[in-house]
Amino acid sequence: MTGHTAAHAAAAQNPDAYWMEAARDIDWHRAPSRAFFPDQGAFGTWFADGELNTCHNALDRHVEAGHGARTALIYDSPISGAAARYTYAELRDQVAKLAGAMAARGVGRGDRVVIYMPMVPEAAMAMLACARLGAIHSVVFGGFAAPELAARIDDAQPVAVLTASCGLEPGRVVAYKPLLDAALAQAQHKPRFCLVMQRPQAPAELTPGRDEDMHAAIAAAAPAACVPVRATDPLYILYTSGTTGKPKGIVRENGGHAVALRRTIRDIYGLQPGDVMWTASDVGWVVGHSYIVYAPLLAGLTTVLFEGKPVGTPDAGTFWRVCAEHQVRVMFTAPTAMRAIKKEDPDGKLAARHDLSRLEALFLAGERCDPDTAEWSAKLLGKPIIDHWWQTETGWPITAAFRGLGLFPLRVGSGGKASPGFDVVALDQHGQEVPRGTMGQLAIRLPLPPAALNTLWNAAERFRTSYLSTFPGFYDTSDAGMVDAEGYVWVMGRTDDVINVAGHRLSTGEMEEVLSGHRDVAECAVVGRADSLKGQVPLGLVVLKSGVNRPEAEVTRELVARVREQIGPVAAFKDARVVARLPKTRSGKILRGTIRKIADGEAYAAPATIDDPAILTEIAEVLARADA
Ligand code: COA
Ligand code: AMP
Repeated sequence: MTGHTAAHAAAAQNPDAYWMEAARDIDWHRAPSRAFFPDQGAFGTWFADGELNTCHNALDRHVEAGHGARTALIYDSPISGAAARYTYAELRDQVAKLAGAMAARGVGRGDRVVIYMPMVPEAAMAMLACARLGAIHSVVFGGFAAPELAARIDDAQPVAVLTASCGLEPGRVVAYKPLLDAALAQAQHKPRFCLVMQRPQAPAELTPGRDEDMHAAIAAAAPAACVPVRATDPLYILYTSGTTGKPKGIVRENGGHAVALRRTIRDIYGLQPGDVMWTASDVGWVVGHSYIVYAPLLAGLTTVLFEGKPVGTPDAGTFWRVCAEHQVRVMFTAPTAMRAIKKEDPDGKLAARHDLSRLEALFLAGERCDPDTAEWSAKLLGKPIIDHWWQTETGWPITAAFRGLGLFPLRVGSGGKASPGFDVVALDQHGQEVPRGTMGQLAIRLPLPPAALNTLWNAAERFRTSYLSTFPGFYDTSDAGMVDAEGYVWVMGRTDDVINVAGHRLSTGEMEEVLSGHRDVAECAVVGRADSLKGQVPLGLVVLKSGVNRPEAEVTRELVARVREQIGPVAAFKDARVVARLPKTRSGKILRGTIRKIADGEAYAAPATIDDPAILTEIAEVLARADA
């Protein structure tokens, strides 16, 4: 029996014993009496009578244990030329002062704080400062536009917004303050104050009575102590794309999160205190929450916070320069990043300039990894390439390979085996388990393990209908795939309106809502089309209202601009085409799956329910003409 098999069996057979043992790695203000409380929440809760503080566990406890001089965070920003290192003691002190500044302005336990910041150390400090006060942070990714920020502000109702004057993208400075101002003008809810981190690339005008300089506020503040909270109190809300324009507020609880994440550093990533871990993602995504900020610090590692891109900052050797310079042992990124590097440095000439002997493994997630990219990465680095399957909802890998438990053979194209605590099955449409090796809808038998969501912010009923009602007794992942005879899980793609663009999760339904709002559009469909760099990119087909005679290029330009203004540049919506009609079933349902197949040049058959098969040929012709 491998270490993984034993751990998985232990978590399945006696979850209380398994998770109580894991909980011993956490400092509790009040230790939980048991792990699982089946009668609370939609399917039970974890560690419900425990009390702790996540920031204490991430920072103070390491300082108190004599590790204050260890490096906690390395900031490396090739895009700005900035670099910094913070020891655990320094990071604790900065976070305590930022928390003090927020507390002095009225932020307390249970209050929400929206963080709209680029990849700077202050973003991590802001998250930890909220955790210190028992406040609930909600980080909004910088690539979202003002209406998205406004929607999150209205849903989370924050007391404060923490932001920076700008973010830096290759070749352009993204001024955040005007975006925040526009969002606050649109939002019904008004936060009491905003703290703005001024950056030299584009200092912002502060709005008197509302905005204050973050660094000045930190400098003037008295440090705040950690506030103990209930294990079930939310640590953060992270909004993610669902099938509609209204994002889902994933709620992460303090207790289960701390326990599960700390355990993953040992078992999945195989790291010990003092090791360097680098996750090249963004704090705006779940991967950034879990593996740039919380898990590495909970486990006493050194984390790297990187402000740059895999290519162009300045070149495709940047990742390898960072690994060598900071002695990174484990790196984590999205397959898209590796595809971008492969395109620019196919023979690995830039990688060869750096000493990568300290790097032990590369973890990938965020989207399906094509075998080519996995094999190319393995050849380039000569280290294990570990694909692992994730969702914002779960907060940590559902499946993985387990470096800390004795690595089992990796299978290219599979996301590994189920993590301890996750019972992954493939179901048919009636909720019956399909035989091993057969494709189905991937689901997780309830209860979900610690750290996974057990509600949505302000939307308990939506949580049930979105995740729990399709297959009673299971959490529906909305991913299709299979579990093979040896327990490897193969994830094939989403079965809903969610697409993964460059590892970023986006809703085609939301893009359709934006296109439909254009005055000339009668109806539309958005599908995710295969893309050799980004995995998928959105493609919009629109039917114009009768009588509209404007040039097609003018309308499509407006549609592209509209998605950028309303959702944000991250949507990467650049391709809109006008068609005469959309293919539909006789009952009027748009055949998006068939449109996607046509767009990807895959074989397709007209579904038996189609209203008029000739439309498929029309669509194929429009796409072929435009592609040419
Ligand atoms: N703030 C403002 N704008 C942002 C942004 C941010 N934080 N992040 C991305 N954008 C913008 C980009 O500048 C780009 O704008 P453009 O249309 O003007 O060029 C747009 O959003 C699309 O961004 P992206 O999809 O990232 O494409 P890109 O061409 O800039 O970069 C890659 C391509 C492959 C380098 C990049 O997508 C990448 O690094 N991907 C890895 C993703 C990742 O780490 N995901 C986390 C999951 S683990
Ligand atoms: P997010 O919530 O942004 O982490 O996106 C979650 C979705 O990304 C999943 O539902 C999958 O569709 C996809 N995904 C994440 N990791 C993987 C992976 N390793 N293999 C295949 N798909 C993945």
